[in-house]
Amino acid sequence: MNNFEWVCPTRIIFGKNTEERVGEFAKQYSNKILLHYGQGSIKKTGLYDKVVNSLKNANVEFIELGGVQPNPRLSLVRKGIEICKKENINFILAVGGGSVIDSAKAIAAGVKYEGDIWELYEGKGTLKEALPVGVILTIPAAGSEASMGSVITNEDGWYKRSINYDILRPVFAIMNPELTYTLPPFQTAVGAVDMLTHVMERYFTNTKNVDLTDRLSEATMRTIIKYAPLALKDPHNYDVRAQIMWAGTVAHNGLLGTGREEDWATHDIEHEVSGIYDVAHGAGLAVLFPAWMKYVYRHDINRFAQYATRVWNVEPDFFNLEKTALEGIKRLEKFYKEELNLPITLSGLKVPDDRFEEMAEKATEKGPIGNFVKLYKEDVLNILKLAK
Ligand code: NZQ
Ligand code: ZN
Repeated sequence: MNNFEWVCPTRIIFGKNTEERVGEFAKQYSNKILLHYGQGSIKKTGLYDKVVNSLKNANVEFIELGGVQPNPRLSLVRKGIEICKKENINFILAVGGGSVIDSAKAIAAGVKYEGDIWELYEGKGTLKEALPVGVILTIPAAGSEASMGSVITNEDGWYKRSINYDILRPVFAIMNPELTYTLPPFQTAVGAVDMLTHVMERYFTNTKNVDLTDRLSEATMRTIIKYAPLALKDPHNYDVRAQIMWAGTVAHNGLLGTGREEDWATHDIEHEVSGIYDVAHGAGLAVLFPAWMKYVYRHDINRFAQYATRVWNVEPDFFNLEKTALEGIKRLEKFYKEELNLPITLSGLKVPDDRFEEMAEKATEKGPIGNFVKLYKEDVLNILKLAK
C-alpha cells in the first residue's frame, strides 16, 4: 500500500426535504450568491421554486446563471466569472448534476485565478485559491459533489479537459434521493455506468496489499450493480434511489483510491469522444471501459479474475484464470446491454470511425495515459477500434 494524504471536507446533507435548508447553509458563506443551473429540469420539477424560497427566507440575495449544457462549455464559465467579479459575488450554488457542478467549480476557480481560466485546464498554471461552491445534487453520476475535479469543454477545438484540486471540493452537498425520481431512464443508466467506472478506474491498479480498498470498492460496485436496474424498474422507490445516490459519492470522493495507484486512461479517451461528439459521458464509458479491459487484462490476469469472482460471482476456474477474467468482462458488457439498455459499441452511439486517429492523438499529446498499463497513441487507437 502506498503512502497517501486524503481530505474530503464536503459536508453531506442527505435525505428527504434537505433541499429546503439550502438558504441556511448558503448563508454560512455569503449573503450574495450565484445560483447556477442547467437547461431547465429544475424548473420543471419544482426544485427551482423551493431553492428560491429557501434563499429568500434566509435573506440570501442571488444572481442567476442557468443554461449549463451537458459537457459544460467554457463560454458560459467565462460569463459566470465576469458576473461574479462585477457583482462582487463570493459563493456559488450549483443546482444540478456533474455538468452544473463542474461549471460552478470552473467559475469559482476563474474568479480567483489571475490568468485566463483555460490555462489551468491546459495544465499551464496552478490554482491557489477558489470561491467556495455548494451543491444541490439532482443526478447521481459524476461524483462531482464531493470530488476535486472539474471537466470543461472548450468550444474552440472541442477540447474536453479537467483540473483537480482539493480546494475545488464543494463545501456542502445537499442530496435528496427524491430529486432523482424525475431522471429519464437513460440518465439513470449512464449515471450508474459513470460511478461504476469511477470505482474500476481505481480497482485496476499495480499497487499490492490494498485489500481494504478492494473490499470497499467491491461493495460499492455490487451495490450499483444491484440497485441501478431496480431504479430503472421502480424510479420512485426512495430506498433504491438512496443507495444509488450515496454510492455515486463514495465512488468518486477519493476514499476508494487511498493508498493505491489509479488508472484513468479510459476517462481520458472518453473525454475525447464526448468532446467531439457530445455523447453523454457515462454512455461513452459503457463502450470504452470494456474495450480497455479486453486490451489490458493480460497485464494482470489474477486481478481481473478476482474482479470477476468477487464482483460478478463468476465461479473461478483455477486451471484457466484467463477464462475467469474474460467472463467478468463479458458480464459487465451484458449488464450494460441487457440490464441498463445501453449501446456497447461506438457505432451504437453514432460515433463514426473517421476521427479515431485525431482522438488518439489528442488523448496522448502530453504523453502516454493511464497507469495500470501505459497507453500510447497506437494503443488508444487499438482500443477505439475494439470499441467500434
Ligand atoms: O440541464 P438540465 O435541464 O438540468 O438536465 C440535465 C441534463 O440534461 C438532466 N437532469 C439532471 N438532473 C435531472 C435531470 N433531468 C431530470 N430530472 C433530474 N433530477 O440530466 C442531463 C445530464 O446532466 P449532467 O449534469 O450532464 O450529468 P452528469 O452528472 O452525468 O455530469 C456529466 C459531466 O460530468 C463530467 C463529465 O465529463 C460530464 O461533462 N465528469 C465530472 C467529474 C468530476 N467533476 O469529478 C468526473 C466524471 O468522471 C466526469 O468526467
Ligand atoms: Zn466519470
